[in-house]
Amino acid sequence: MKGFTLGFQIDLICACNLKCNFCTYNDNSDSWRNGERLSFEKLKDVFDKLYENPPDIPLERLQFVGSGEPLLYKQLPEAISYAKRVFSYVGITTNGVLLTKEISQKLIDAGTNEISISITGASPEVYARHQGSGKTFDEVVRQFDLVKQNIENLCILRNMKKRPLNVLISTILHEGSKEDFVKCLNMWRNMNGGVNMVLFRTMNGIKSTSVSADSYEEYISNDLVSSNGFTPSCTMFGKTMQISVNGDLYICCALNEQTRIGNIFETDITEILNSEKFKKMVNAFHCQYRDVPEYCKRCSMGRSCATF
Ligand SMILES: C[S@@+](CC[C@H](N)C(=O)[O-])C[C@H]1O[C@@H](n2cnc3c(N)ncnc32)[C@H](O)[C@@H]1O
Ligand code: SF4
Ligand code: SF4
Repeated sequence: MKGFTLGFQIDLICACNLKCNFCTYNDNSDSWRNGERLSFEKLKDVFDKLYENPPDIPLERLQFVGSGEPLLYKQLPEAISYAKRVFSYVGITTNGVLLTKEISQKLIDAGTNEISISITGASPEVYARHQGSGKTFDEVVRQFDLVKQNIENLCILRNMKKRPLNVLISTILHEGSKEDFVKCLNMWRNMNGGVNMVLFRTMNGIKSTSVSADSYEEYISNDLVSSNGFTPSCTMFGKTMQISVNGDLYICCALNEQTRIGNIFETDITEILNSEKFKKMVNAFHCQYRDVPEYCKRCSMGRSCATF
């Protein structure tokens, strides 16, 4: 297993303050917003176990992201501090509405390495079409301005504190998005404080492209939007395993019975990750492609977990 590392996404809370029309988890029935949350005490216990008894394959990256909005989870800064004892890179993905100066300060002080803010559109009109459900246009304009201001404040605070925090913008591509793509790049390039990267992805994450702050100019001036295309992308086995609010552990974020490999509140997580079954799967994905599970060969998420 030399050279391999593992990464996780943890779903802290099944509740959200927005109803984005593209959201995988928003079936408009409100049934998914049942408010279920991952127990902080149980989470600390799992991190303690990982600290005392790390798995054979080193842990690298953890992102707090899932079916809801992580900033609704009260103990998020504490969870990040705890996670930093076992993961070298810890991030969150948020819609940015609740990212006040106070919470930004706490997240930075907790040692967060990445804050990815999901905001689609370079204007309130485009934003409203995607992230404004259930609100009047005036309310959406205020929300759009608030999120932009929160991002700017976060970047300024990060610069003042001289912390190596990556601030990313995550955007869903939509119909007629080429024009908006360029406007987005310009908007984030010109913002005070500076974001590190803008990530564009198609619905359900089938394809994506990332534009770093250093390459904004090149993208805009050479019109790489149309000439470069987008690379296939999806969750990668072993890099983005998912833990859901009830402790179920999945090999990726295609959550189903076949990808579920255990429950971290029922079985010691290190035991699951050190099991022969799991190591065999890691080996299959990295070396013996013919041995990857059959369901992965039929996976609709672009089969990009491996190059088979
Ligand atoms: C489900 S959200 C949860 C975290 C937080 N509420 C947010 O919006 O950032 C996680 C990420 O998934 C993205 N997302 C949601 N539905 C998607 C879809 N159908 N296709 C691609 N990405 C999607 C969101 O834009 C966000 O960046
Ligand atoms: S903010 Fe995130 S979780 Fe909430 S509806 Fe939008 S994409 Fe889904
Ligand atoms: S190929 Fe599909 S099912 Fe298999 S690990 Fe990747 S995303 Fe999950």
